[in-house]
Amino acid sequence: MVERNASTVGLITKRSLICLFTFSSLFLIFSWFSVLGSTGRNHFVTSNSLPDSKYVAEIDDDNSKVSNLNKAESSPGNRVILGNNGVDEEEATAKTKDECRCEMSDKTSLRVYMYDMNPEFHFGLLDWKPQGNHVWPDIRTTIPPYPGGLNLQHSIEYWLTLDLLASEIPIIPNARAAIRVRNSSEADIVFVPFFSSLSYNRFSKVNPHQKKSRNNVLQEKLVRFLTSQTEWKRSGGRDHVILAHHPNSMLSARMKLWPAMFILSDFGRYPPNIANIEKDVIAPYKHMIRSYVNDSSDFDSRPTLLYFQGAIYRKDGGFVRQELFYLLRDEKDVHFSFGSVQKDGVSKASRGMHSSKFCLNIAGDTPSSNRLFDAIASHCVPVIISDEIELPYEDVLDYSQFCIFVRTSDALKEKFLINLVRSIKKEKWTQMWQRLKEVEKFYEFHYPSKEDDAIQMIWQAVAHKVPALKRKIHRTWRFSHSVRGRERGLLSVPSPRNFW
Ligand SMILES: *[C@@H]1O[C@H](CO)[C@@H](O)[C@H](O)[C@H]1NC(C)=O
Ligand SMILES: *[C@@H]1O[C@H](CO)[C@@H](O)[C@H](O)[C@H]1NC(C)=O
Repeated sequence: MVERNASTVGLITKRSLICLFTFSSLFLIFSWFSVLGSTGRNHFVTSNSLPDSKYVAEIDDDNSKVSNLNKAESSPGNRVILGNNGVDEEEATAKTKDECRCEMSDKTSLRVYMYDMNPEFHFGLLDWKPQGNHVWPDIRTTIPPYPGGLNLQHSIEYWLTLDLLASEIPIIPNARAAIRVRNSSEADIVFVPFFSSLSYNRFSKVNPHQKKSRNNVLQEKLVRFLTSQTEWKRSGGRDHVILAHHPNSMLSARMKLWPAMFILSDFGRYPPNIANIEKDVIAPYKHMIRSYVNDSSDFDSRPTLLYFQGAIYRKDGGFVRQELFYLLRDEKDVHFSFGSVQKDGVSKASRGMHSSKFCLNIAGDTPSSNRLFDAIASHCVPVIISDEIELPYEDVLDYSQFCIFVRTSDALKEKFLINLVRSIKKEKWTQMWQRLKEVEKFYEFHYPSKEDDAIQMIWQAVAHKVPALKRKIHRTWRFSHSVRGRERGLLSVPSPRNFW
């Protein structure tokens, strides 16, 4: 009990300290500006010279919507400097007094502790050779390239790791929804830099002289490594973020690391007690087709009504694709063909999707697929037939504004789908197309990351889970009567069934 109170007090103290700090920073800055105002213009005030531009800028930001997180950091201080002409001291003081805002700025960047794991778990899988004792590449000089082709679909692990490394280098102007911290006690979450999808894609084969595939060996090592860490023991793994975007990645380790937060493409191959929307995060695939830059097409200039190009599966959802093929094959303005979009097919598929009004996204052997993200990048209104699909960022994004959802049972009724699609007229379609052009940035991957790109959106989705996981961790500490016990990992982990 004593520790709990102590930690609560600690939290309050920390928060009020930050408030106090923000207030005094603001006061200092504004008094400084008034001095400047009398001596000359502030053109030499560069963003970096502001002591804590992040907090100030956040307070200045009134429209904190979906992704208020890092406007400030991507152009640190800018808003403050620009705003200075119009904002007077009184107004600024009033704003700092707003406790809510103070609390918000407290949360702005997700603080992430990343294990310095052996490169065999991450960049080593990309054939990067560490020099000396270095665990990480020096990204100021070289960024190990990621293999192209289909591997890229599941490359979120690579982008998030690079983003954390970049967050420590002031000269790299990334958006910083997340910042790396070196002290795990000060972190919101613990990031596990295992490139599990790459490990699955490249090293699943068991070679003749091996007993197990490298992918399996790495997973076993990972479980041993994680479960022996103080950080893991302290939280039972609940504040750990593990990437398993490829549906087949982490196949054996997932059953042992289930308390952690997974970043996944869907829950198709997970029992609900191992992965679920309460604790886990859905990340988009990296789209394969070309983005439609400067799209000036319209309803009438896209000749194909409905487009589908995809693999045919014999199992699971495969029969739906077959059935739909029979239902749609005689419609003249429908393109429906089988065959996965391989490397050489990309530009053909790009042309196809760029010239279609609607693009079908049918569940395959998993509920999710790359097709949806290809459609979004093409501004081709997605028609989703996948009852179990999970969508990235759905807590902040209303997909019904730019996607059509059809239940599988309806889609399989004679003429249902084609009549539905034909009933959507130019005006409605154009609204959805407009919205697609607005949201497409949420699905783009950049290095350095940009405001509201996929990397930043994922960090924000992770950040949204933090309060709930902290509550769970704190509850488990209720009866751990000594700090020592907590650190030694005397925490008992309940069975997955009772846990969430
Ligand atoms: C890590 O952070 C905690 C909490 O802020 C602090 O008590 C501890 O001294 C820090 N450890 C190091 C090595 O700085
Ligand atoms: C898109 O439009 C901008 C501005 O008009 C132009 O600078 C850019 O080159 C265009 N990009 C492509 C790929 O056409």
